[in-house]
Amino acid sequence: MPLVLVRTVSGLEGLAAEEIAAGGHRVVDVSKRQLIIEASDELLGRPPRLADDVFLVRDAVPDPGRTKDGLRSVSLTAQALGPFAVSASFVGERNFNRYDVEDHVGAVLGGEYHSRRDGARPPAQRSEWRVVLDGKTMWIGVRPYDVPLHRRAWRQRTVVGSLHPPVAAAMARLARIEPGMRVLDPFCGAGTLLVEAHALEPAASYRGIDRRAEAVAAARANSAAVQVQLGDAARVSGPVHRIVTNPPWGVRLAVGDLTPYWRAWRRVLAPDGVVVALLSQEQAALLETSWTVQAAYDLSVAGRHPRIVVLTPQRI
Ligand SMILES: C[S@@+](CC[C@H](N)C(=O)[O-])C[C@H]1O[C@@H](n2cnc3c(N)ncnc32)[C@H](O)[C@@H]1O
Repeated sequence: MPLVLVRTVSGLEGLAAEEIAAGGHRVVDVSKRQLIIEASDELLGRPPRLADDVFLVRDAVPDPGRTKDGLRSVSLTAQALGPFAVSASFVGERNFNRYDVEDHVGAVLGGEYHSRRDGARPPAQRSEWRVVLDGKTMWIGVRPYDVPLHRRAWRQRTVVGSLHPPVAAAMARLARIEPGMRVLDPFCGAGTLLVEAHALEPAASYRGIDRRAEAVAAARANSAAVQVQLGDAARVSGPVHRIVTNPPWGVRLAVGDLTPYWRAWRRVLAPDGVVVALLSQEQAALLETSWTVQAAYDLSVAGRHPRIVVLTPQRI
């Protein structure tokens, strides 16, 4: 079984591990933003949707520690053929930067190395290598795809605030959507949540609402499988079995501004309905007072720290 390095979003590691195990692969190690797995042959045909990216492990040596001399002493058995580029990351303090790691590994791997140090773009036809120093091990892998996994083929358009697809995929998994269910995103933007949910459970029906025509057009361009309408999130109709959504959270909202939306969710949810929402910490704290929180996940994504909450209405 090939060893594979899986990169994911900070906060989604446990959920990514569940998805990967459910796909028939063996999870060997989980650390911040990263999983090491023994993958079955099916991985490349059915890659995990919660992964940002995957790399076939070509070498693994002890982490060289914090000094440049340690880094320079690293030798590898892996070899690169043809043009290639390297991206590196590490945890902890080091006396070198990512470009030092990339250039060292690039020099050691052979082949036609293209450094990113001076901001040059490597040629389109290249293999992409990834190096991670996780404190114990220096992992060296090569991407088996042309583009990172988080870049979805369906995604033609985005809007301001569009979700990172692996986060949307995680929310869709948490919603446990079943065939025949009606699923609503009342703040659908470009439809990321609905499209990812449809990929997971094509036998449910998906409806999105957004008050901006540009967002409705973007969602329609992204998928013909979801129904999208122009409208106000406070005036949605039901019943629906699942609400998956991320309301705007870049702006500070007052409690009173949020209330009509939460009320609308309560009104349209079928008995046993579930809401999965990506919220700011502030919004989540407000909601947690009047809904039952079944699960919560704190993420770090694009420099922000939102929370995914799985909610059911509190029965009074
Ligand atoms: C954070 S974005 C959602 C992004 C979406 N999940 C995606 O991946 O593209 C929030 C969306 O809510 C929409 N919106 C804001 N207030 C609304 C309202 N009252 N009713 C309907 N849509 C609203 C905005 O136009 C925006 O597209």
